[in-house]
Amino acid sequence: MSGGNDDQIAYWNAGAGETWAALQARMDAQLEPLGLAAQTALAPQAGERVLDVGCGSGQTTLALARAVAPGGTATGLDISRPMLEVAKARAAAEGVAGASFIEADAQIHPFAPGSFDAAFSRFGVMFFADPAAAFANIRKGLKPGGRLAFVCWRAPDHNPFMTLPMAAAADLLPPGPPPTPGAPGPFAFADPERVRSILTDAGFQDIAIAPHDEKIGSGDLDQTLEVSLKVGPLGAMLRENPDKRGAVIGAVRKALAEHEGPDGVKIASATWIVTARA
Ligand SMILES: C[S@@+](CC[C@H](N)C(=O)[O-])C[C@H]1O[C@@H](n2cnc3c(N)ncnc32)[C@H](O)[C@@H]1O
Repeated sequence: MSGGNDDQIAYWNAGAGETWAALQARMDAQLEPLGLAAQTALAPQAGERVLDVGCGSGQTTLALARAVAPGGTATGLDISRPMLEVAKARAAAEGVAGASFIEADAQIHPFAPGSFDAAFSRFGVMFFADPAAAFANIRKGLKPGGRLAFVCWRAPDHNPFMTLPMAAAADLLPPGPPPTPGAPGPFAFADPERVRSILTDAGFQDIAIAPHDEKIGSGDLDQTLEVSLKVGPLGAMLRENPDKRGAVIGAVRKALAEHEGPDGVKIASATWIVTARA
């Protein structure tokens, strides 16, 4: 059975998934504070069973497993084999017994009904071909009244953290395809009314969508440059146009350097912290 997510399954198992897996420490450094904001909204309790949707390399699943100890479990679910391999190795290395992982598409995975107290995601829910069907499926896995909390990006205009590298390199690269509002991708949930409508259609209640603004970064200038050149739309563009890499490096380094301070490169990000109940 296919949920129409074949393109995303290919994307997260090839260049993008391998890059995220290889850069796990840097990606975790930049996204950890935003995941913790969503985890605080979820308020996991000892003994609970929590689902981590699109768990990637597992940092949040391990954090959730620790938050629900003793007696609780955190299940990370993802379509990306390379990222899940990193997640499983970390759980074993860190001895986090309450964490486990499933390779599956959240839109169609046959969750045992009512098997989770809460569902969480850090940027793992914006890639579904049919978001209402995916959230209805996730809701079936929650017990009645079960909690949902996730963090997703607000619009590109509010997110220099996401757009600055590409903007700095744009004149040096062939034009990319025009963005399609709402298409699966990092900004698919930028419109809060669309998020509300998707969750309502999926049967969720008590929906709250709160803005969260925070400067984030992945380390010093060289570390940030490495991530910027490999991840997201610029990373994809450079994988397709490797001959442009030399020219792009200088432009992106210069743009990032303007945001360098004593704590490394920090750039403004804008997200929604979304909460709801099944
Ligand atoms: C932007 S990454 C975030 C990864 C991780 N949550 C983190 O914060 O580091 C998006 C993740 O969602 C996963 N994903 C995309 N579509 C999915 C689907 N239909 N079911 C499960 N996971 C999915 C991807 O494989 C990827 O790991």
